[in-house]
Amino acid sequence: MGNNDTFDNRNLEVAPCVQEEAPEPEEGKNPWPYAVWLFFGIMIGWGATYLALEVPHGQVEFGDVRDQLKSQMIRNSVEVTDSSETLNKSKVDGGQIYASVCASCHQASGQGLPGAFPPLDGSPWVIQNKFIPAKIILKGLTGPIEVKGVTFNGVMPGFENQLSSEEIAAVVNFIRSQWSNRESDVLTGEEVQTLQKQLSGKKTPWTADELKSP
Ligand code: HEC
Repeated sequence: MGNNDTFDNRNLEVAPCVQEEAPEPEEGKNPWPYAVWLFFGIMIGWGATYLALEVPHGQVEFGDVRDQLKSQMIRNSVEVTDSSETLNKSKVDGGQIYASVCASCHQASGQGLPGAFPPLDGSPWVIQNKFIPAKIILKGLTGPIEVKGVTFNGVMPGFENQLSSEEIAAVVNFIRSQWSNRESDVLTGEEVQTLQKQLSGKKTPWTADELKSP
């Protein structure tokens, strides 16, 4: 019964589908490959180095604080520029306006030029009343005018189209407190604005006589 023997043997053989199945998993038989350990090692080393380098001195918080510091710095700088901008807006520099608009004629010294431009330093037209210089700057001045015992007869243009009311107020306050002038009665931009409205009908420059009569 050789044929039968062969048949029996074949029956005892493990079926092909069973052979293909993976062997039962056993603990400890499949350790992590070397590459995985190396990977974790590098990650831990990198993390430790990163923390050591990035934690600023004296700071107890761990982690990346660069963004925090950066946004704080940006916020600070924004606050600084904000406040300096509002400061510039509300406070026009009268000295700067004088230097760029008036000094070419009246000179930086405020002494004017003999025979051509009258002095502002010590001039009663500047000192006596804060509205007179504002009127002159708005509309200009023409005809003979006596300043500190000297008569001038020239023409000064008006600046109401070049300067804002704030700028006119600032330059008036500047010439009234500069050099030997010591007036502290401050003219405001609103006062200049009111004056400008009152004078909106006036199209010609002032004469000295007009300014004398209130
Ligand atoms: C183009 C030259 C010129 C410029 C610029 C000029 N002025 Fe005059 N200013 C004169 C002249 C000229 C007179 C005298 C006018 C006259 O003879 O009637 C005068 C007169 C005056 C007076 C009255 C007289 C006195 O000496 O007190 C004041 C105040 C004055 N100017 C202020 C200013 C201010 C402030 C500015 C700048 C915003 C300015 N002026 C710009 C030429 C100028």
